[in-house]
Amino acid sequence: MKLNDDFLALLRCPVTGSALTLCGEELRSADGEQAYPLIKGTPWLLPHARNSLLDWGAKLNHFRQVLAAEANSLERELKSAPAASQPRLARMRDAKQAFLAVVTDLVAPIASARVAEKSLYDVLRDRAPSTQNLLSYEANLYRDWIWGEEENRRSCKLVLDQLSDAKVSRLLVLGAGSARLAHDLNAELQPELTVATDINPLLLLAAERIFSGEGFSLYEFPAQPRDSASVAVEQSFNGMHEWPAKLQLAFADVARNAFEPGAFDAVVTPWLIDIQPYELSRFLTDLNQYLPVGGHWVNFGSLVFNQRRDAYCYTLEEVESIANDCGFAMSKPVEVEIPYLKSPHNAGYRMERVWTWRAQKTTDAAAREDPQVLPGWVLDTGKPIPRVRYFDDFARQHRIHSELAAEVDGKTSIAVIAGRLAKQNNMDRAEALELVRNFFLEIYRANNPGA
Ligand SMILES: C[S@@+](CC[C@H](N)C(=O)[O-])C[C@H]1O[C@@H](n2cnc3c(N)ncnc32)[C@H](O)[C@@H]1O
Repeated sequence: MKLNDDFLALLRCPVTGSALTLCGEELRSADGEQAYPLIKGTPWLLPHARNSLLDWGAKLNHFRQVLAAEANSLERELKSAPAASQPRLARMRDAKQAFLAVVTDLVAPIASARVAEKSLYDVLRDRAPSTQNLLSYEANLYRDWIWGEEENRRSCKLVLDQLSDAKVSRLLVLGAGSARLAHDLNAELQPELTVATDINPLLLLAAERIFSGEGFSLYEFPAQPRDSASVAVEQSFNGMHEWPAKLQLAFADVARNAFEPGAFDAVVTPWLIDIQPYELSRFLTDLNQYLPVGGHWVNFGSLVFNQRRDAYCYTLEEVESIANDCGFAMSKPVEVEIPYLKSPHNAGYRMERVWTWRAQKTTDAAAREDPQVLPGWVLDTGKPIPRVRYFDDFARQHRIHSELAAEVDGKTSIAVIAGRLAKQNNMDRAEALELVRNFFLEIYRANNPGA
């Protein structure tokens, strides 16, 4: 991506808020403390860039191990499968291998060179933000660039309708995924600058390939294939003739503004507010910082909040009230039902009820005093970890698991292990037997999926 000067001038360090200067292949903060690399020309503006790159690199390595294990397991199943199933299994095995090679190539700029054992990644994988994996929203790639014309057209129209009377000169699309909506809005509205951000390297690097004219092929694996040809479908993503004018990409976390405050006159959040990891009022306080008073926030998507606490899984009415408290005046939401990820290779698809609204920023919400997401002892790995109860509980649970599993020596029965457990913990023998039996059964089932 060729960096546009207007875009560069807006970039800020997401940790200190200071301006960034381009020095070779990285952007440096004015105090020289923070550096943000360019990944195929796209700024990596996640706080603590080195750590977040390593984190995504580990996700990639984990993903490679999982896919290689899947291909091996298909190879084994193929050997004992009936003749009628063999072409399907062979097709899937080959497609998995090809998929692995293409994804590895796409995200090679963030990969780390040494790959550990799969079991290690299984245990220590993906943490912040915990719901985001390399392949989260992979289906959006096919919807955006292969078969999703109807969905893309309807989504774009819903957002455009909200902006019909607004003058947009700088547009920001947050959580833009593989950037089709950002691309279409940029083409329709023709602002002076459109920026599409996301944290997922696969989606943004795929968009980068398409915009830069390279293109690639990737296998789609529909969840409910219509026939045997649909179990793995090779899709060709064509590269564009030229990079879309005024469109820029950035790796950035919605909650850590990496732009000059108030830099955009319109911010779009497509399918984002309910799946992003932060409680809504915190998210909207951060969103408020991107806009000047009078600027527009356009939301589009579902309201299926994915928070651990019920209290944070808001309904539309609560969203309106929270938006108001965070300095936004919301228009009446438009409610429609639209198909969601309707792949022609899938037997089924979902219909989703989505809401679109425009909210005008009425007041500046005070920026959070401590925008730091992670505790000090995580950022400075030389600091001691505080001794708190949940770490003790975690250690105890895992110690019990590992002690039970370590009892397996090829000679000892469930009854013997349960007897020891009951004695050590002063437990009812029958209850211990049931718990130990279930413990081993679960491990067995996890490793023998057909059993
Ligand atoms: C449901 S998908 C929607 C993608 C795209 N907006 C669309 O309409 O298809 C949610 C997107 O938000 C991104 N995302 C999740 N958490 C994020 C965060 N903290 N900061 C930036 N992007 C985030 C995901 O990587 C994903 O691309």
